[in-house]
Order: sequence, then C-alpha cells, then structure tokens
Amino acid sequence: MKSTVILISGRGSNMASLIDTVADGSLPVRVAAVLSNRPDAPGLEIAASRGIPTRVVDHTQYSGREAFDAALAEAIDAYAPDIVVLAGFLRILSDDFVMRYAGRLINIHPSLLPAFPGLHTHQRALDEGVRIHGCTVHFVTPTLDHGPIIAQAAVPVLDGDDAARLAARVLEMEHRLYPLAIRWFAEGRLSVVDGRVALDAEQDAAVKLISPRVPECR
Ligand code: GRF
Repeated sequence: MKSTVILISGRGSNMASLIDTVADGSLPVRVAAVLSNRPDAPGLEIAASRGIPTRVVDHTQYSGREAFDAALAEAIDAYAPDIVVLAGFLRILSDDFVMRYAGRLINIHPSLLPAFPGLHTHQRALDEGVRIHGCTVHFVTPTLDHGPIIAQAAVPVLDGDDAARLAARVLEMEHRLYPLAIRWFAEGRLSVVDGRVALDAEQDAAVKLISPRVPECR
C-alpha cells in the first residue's frame, strides 16, 4: 500500500477528510505523518487525535526558503512516502523542493484552475461575476498553481453569495474530490502525457468533473 505524508498550515479539514476516508476503507493509502510549518495549526491536534504521527517544521526558525525547504524535505524523507499531499500548506516551495518530489507532489486549490491562481480565490470569483466556481486537484510543478490537472469539482455561484458562503460550498466539494483524486493516483491509474493527466481506460472520463445539480438548470 502506498504511503503518504500530508503537509498542512492551518485548520486541516482536507487532511481530516483524507484521514477519515482512509479509516472508512475507501482510500487505500497509509497516512504516515502530518507535518505543519506552523506549531499552532489546529489540524495537528485533529491528526494526533486520530492516531497519526505529527511533526512541526517551523519556517520562522530558518534563515530562508532554501534552508526551510531542506529541513522540510528531511522531515518528509524520514517517512519515505510515495505521495506528498499539500492540504492547505501555505508556503511557496522552492523549485528544488518541487523537483525532488516531481510526479508525486499533489495539491488542492480552491478555484477552477487556470482561473484564479494564488490567494483570495472566492472573493476574486465573486468580483469577476463568474457563475461557476470550484476546486482543482493538480500535480505540483515549479509554476505556482499551474501543474497538470487531475480532477475538478464545480459549484454554482448563487445570488447573495459572499466569499464565506461560496468558500463553504467549494470546501464541501474539496472534501469529496481530494480523496477521489488521491485514490486514482495511489491505484496507479494516472499518467501525465504532454502535460495533461490521463486516467486509465476503466475510468469513466465524466468522473473527472464532479458537479452538483443546479436546481434552476434541470
Ligand atoms: C482549502 O480551501 C484548500 O483548497 C486550500 O487551502 C484551504 C485549506 O483548508 N489550498 P483546510 O486546512 O484543508 O481546511
């Protein structure tokens, strides 16, 4: 069974959904450890309460990004994971770090990439007036939020939404999408061809997009 290390910086709800999906038998990986760059990340306690080893690599204790990334890589490599999962990990990683884990470093981003890379995605989606928003699971490459897309989930933007309401609607989908995408990877069903992700033949292509029904559009 593939093993994974999950990196977090904060509340860890995606991490919790992954751990819970592993626990209920629907995600065939072993979560070897949860690492955080912030000692006060609430997700650390959640992981510990579910019996997962945790470790902090505090970025404020290092002189710069290279030194921090080297310490982080050392902490990760101690668990020899097959998959490194970013789940709300809020540090920009150096190219060397990204290349070290190339092809097995996966992130979830709260927008339908390539729209809205970076921060404040929900407010920016509202400001642009888009009618469909969502989240993306992708392989990490040196260009921020631009790696090959594994799967996406869409949600409608509804009248009266503010960033918090829209974020909550997207987050619900994140919690479904991330375990699914990691499962495909863990089962060896994904390959990257010409910078695009292909799923194996058994997989229905339609599953790459999760979308709830929009009541007005039935
Ligand atoms: C999520 O919206 C994720 O897409 C983004 O950061 C947020 C982390 O939330 N990368 P949580 O810590 O998983 O609750």
